Amino acid sequence: MHYIHCLNNISAKGTDLLGADYELTDDISRAQGILVRSAAMHDMQLPEDLLAIARAGAGVNNIPLDTCAEAGIVVFNTPGANANAVKELVLCGMLLASRGIIDGAAWCRDHADSPTIGKDAEKAKKAFAGHEVFGKTLGVIGLGAIGALVANAAIDLGMNVLGYDPYVSAEAAWRLSPAVEHVTNLDDVLHRSDYVTIHVPAMDSTRGMIGAHELEVAKPGCAVLNFSRDTLVDNAAMTEALAAGRVATYVTDFATPEVMAMTNTLVLPHLGASTAEAEDNCAIMAARQIKDYLENGNIKNS
Ligand code: MLT
Repeated sequence: MHYIHCLNNISAKGTDLLGADYELTDDISRAQGILVRSAAMHDMQLPEDLLAIARAGAGVNNIPLDTCAEAGIVVFNTPGANANAVKELVLCGMLLASRGIIDGAAWCRDHADSPTIGKDAEKAKKAFAGHEVFGKTLGVIGLGAIGALVANAAIDLGMNVLGYDPYVSAEAAWRLSPAVEHVTNLDDVLHRSDYVTIHVPAMDSTRGMIGAHELEVAKPGCAVLNFSRDTLVDNAAMTEALAAGRVATYVTDFATPEVMAMTNTLVLPHLGASTAEAEDNCAIMAARQIKDYLENGNIKNS
């Protein structure tokens, strides 16, 4: 019998795959395998018999990688399994930043009781006019599974797409539309982009990679989207750029007080991968990885 502990709600589509030789245990100390979503594991006492952790998601910044490496615990993530969900929310964020959708909808709600709502709305609509993304330039920082999907979708929307990734893998390059222009200089991407979207893992080397200098060279009035990790953007520099209007809108999946205090931000509670489909896909991949490792010793991060 193998004991598996789920640190977060993991879709039953995944755990059901484990089969009769597995028991889902509430007692983490018995676990040979852990399935985890976003729970922070850095301060946890890892079980003595633990052999593998599968992170149902792309980022592994919630896992104590050094401790696991020392203890010989294999860590998996689920690359690509939630990429479509994130792509769709990035596109949604970009369109929300471009059109008067949120303010316009709020206006309608506020005027719901007006007997002349139809006429009032016709007058009010000027205030909510926006811009089209067609023909505009999107800079995609990081061309892994998610960045590549976003870049291709933006090409389909008629945008010019600049791709930046010093570590782009052959696989990602293969997935990318040939219409994506590869740019090797980050400043150049920022300077030319009406929209900038970040798809980079959280590591020491990427902490604050969008900081004061980057926001200074960015195209005035650009929108920045961050559906990766909060640490990638220097929030103090971002609030300054937002206050000065150098960044028109910051769309972020990470709720922090300083960013939420600004009016030209759209802040979400880490919803990028929160779709039923993505949760199923991640859980299925994570459960298969654990099973294949515990039963066959296979380490396959896909
Ligand atoms: C990810 O790293 O893919 C996301 O953080 C997944 C999630 O929301 O759990």
